[in-house]
Amino acid sequence: MSSKREFVVRGLRLEADAVLSVELTPADGGGVPHWEPGSHIDIVVGDGTSRQYSLCGEPGEGALRIAVLREPAGRGGSAWVHDQLRPGAVLSVGGPRNHFALRAARSYLFVAGGIGITPLLPMVSAAGSAAADWRLHYFGRRLATMPFRDRLGPHGDRVLLHPAEQGGRPDAAFLLDGLDDRTLIYACGPARLMQALEAGVAAHGCRDRFFTELFTAPEDETPREKGAFTVRLERSGTEFEVPAGRSALSVLTEAGFDLLKDCEEGICGSCETRVLSGEVDHRDHILTPQERAANDCMMLCVSRAAGDRLVLDL
Ligand code: FES
Repeated sequence: MSSKREFVVRGLRLEADAVLSVELTPADGGGVPHWEPGSHIDIVVGDGTSRQYSLCGEPGEGALRIAVLREPAGRGGSAWVHDQLRPGAVLSVGGPRNHFALRAARSYLFVAGGIGITPLLPMVSAAGSAAADWRLHYFGRRLATMPFRDRLGPHGDRVLLHPAEQGGRPDAAFLLDGLDDRTLIYACGPARLMQALEAGVAAHGCRDRFFTELFTAPEDETPREKGAFTVRLERSGTEFEVPAGRSALSVLTEAGFDLLKDCEEGICGSCETRVLSGEVDHRDHILTPQERAANDCMMLCVSRAAGDRLVLDL
């Protein structure tokens, strides 16, 4: 079930064209929850639905920080943040949770596109604190649309800016050439950049060292059958049929369960739920092969039962 806490908006700052950062502190005066680089929170926006944003501050500071890109073609959540949120407002916040954790390594290649810089900001700080070698390639349309350049300035020539207005285009071969076999690659950005990198790491044989956070689900998926199955909710002692073509998330939400959700495409992790028994047919874009094999959680918005029944910790 959703577990949320109230936070107060302490500050708002325009970080670049159409990018607003939001500083949040707990409304109850308690401590800021522990989080690590790559984590995100869910915030409840004006229409009562949730949106997911990466934490872009520094772990251990006395506030949570996110940055929101205004997306005119979006579902309205970013416009609400930009147009309605004011200092002193109280937000319902879920998390932090982390599906993009920074693994320990001696060197890193970070690649960001636009607002995809947000989860990478605390990562470059952590890499620096761990005395790891690292480089960040940061792509954007124009310098004015690329937030947090001021925070990256002190890192000097470890950070390379590639605004398209100055000819900067994603070129995976250029980024990956000469990479040693211990370097981990972390990337976040729009689909075109991620697809170029995905192809590049496959060609370089380093897919197992490539970690991404997606904004949108890949389009070129092979359609798979969406057969019916049963979910038993162990804590509430109830059972529901999930018909072919519908998700467990939609069935349970319709039945009145207050479940966290955002993307409904298997890319944000908001609806992750513990599985107590039954085999899962994982269809998300978040879990690693090892996490899938563990068969102890699933994304209710896209994943289904491999058999005819799942028991969930709900
Ligand atoms: S709602 Fe985003 S993964 Fe399910």
